[in-house]
Amino acid sequence: MTASSPIRKRLLSGMQPTGTGRLHLGNLEGALRPWVKLQDEYQMFCFIADWHALTTLAEDGDPPDIAAKSREVALDYLSAGLDPERCAIFRQSHVPQHAELHLLLSMVTPVGWLERVPTYKEKRELMAGYEGGGEAGASYGLLGYPVLQAADILIYRAHAVPVGKDQAAHLEISREIARRFNRLFDTDLFPVPEPVISEDTGVVPGLDVDANGKLRKMSKSYGNAIYLTDTPDEIAAKLKTAFTSPNKIKKTDPGEPEGCSVCQLCRIYDPAGFQVQWDECRSGARGCVQSKRETTDILVAALAPFRERRARYESDPAELDRLLARGAEQARDFAEDTLRQVREAMKLV
Ligand code: TRP
Repeated sequence: MTASSPIRKRLLSGMQPTGTGRLHLGNLEGALRPWVKLQDEYQMFCFIADWHALTTLAEDGDPPDIAAKSREVALDYLSAGLDPERCAIFRQSHVPQHAELHLLLSMVTPVGWLERVPTYKEKRELMAGYEGGGEAGASYGLLGYPVLQAADILIYRAHAVPVGKDQAAHLEISREIARRFNRLFDTDLFPVPEPVISEDTGVVPGLDVDANGKLRKMSKSYGNAIYLTDTPDEIAAKLKTAFTSPNKIKKTDPGEPEGCSVCQLCRIYDPAGFQVQWDECRSGARGCVQSKRETTDILVAALAPFRERRARYESDPAELDRLLARGAEQARDFAEDTLRQVREAMKLV
């Protein structure tokens, strides 16, 4: 807490533990690195949305190992540099206050708002093919996903939530629910949470191109990603086969750094030095092999802190559990205080 801002605004951020815990450079630049910056500015609550991961149980088939996946996400948060001394890191299911607020907010949320959410409509159609068929496939929990998300945010009376494009509709419902609650119960208990759009680092390109020869974004599903957990050898091997200038056959042929995945990665991870590489590539003073070698070194160095932090926390599972327990305790303290005021506003006490 800095002297100039004695009362910091609160921010809530979270992810579902649906992945494998393997984050790539795109996830890092798009979400986690902005979050790490935000922890200086805000009082931050950073949680793992493990209940949300259950909303599509019927779609997923075998129940996912939520506890194991949640630990992986926690490791990702910590290895990215979220600091448990400054921000509460915890699992949603460890703070049952989210569930009580979800129930209470569900009483003031029109079903029509929920049925219009694009992700719900998509998932409902997707799930039509599963057991039960038709709308029977979509769960009550899935419909209520945005209400639970509103509870996640409002239980900390958060002023801000970092959101990607895909979450804009969900945050809009949280804002509507906050307004409606305040109006119905004649209170200003809930700040209307503002979206925080992080400054655009640009899309991180993957290692390949689409059918038109254009770089496409890094994505797990394209198999073109560099993961935070990749070893230096794996990074070197991936860059060796990465897409470069198609017309640069000999070293002296002029290259096109704009369309080259290696040059673009170098630009992102060596903003002070990439210009030399780009100029020499264009003029034919250097070949792709040299650029790949240098960019490998740059990436390996850039990822070293992540690898080290992850190794440290991986080697001490008991410490990870302690951190998550302490984060949950801090969260519960705040959440219970909010709930007390909610129950009062609703004349339950
Ligand atoms: N819906 C978010 C996602 O899929 C996860 C989430 C749940 C969340 N509750 C939240 C994000 C509250 C921000 C705030 O990634």
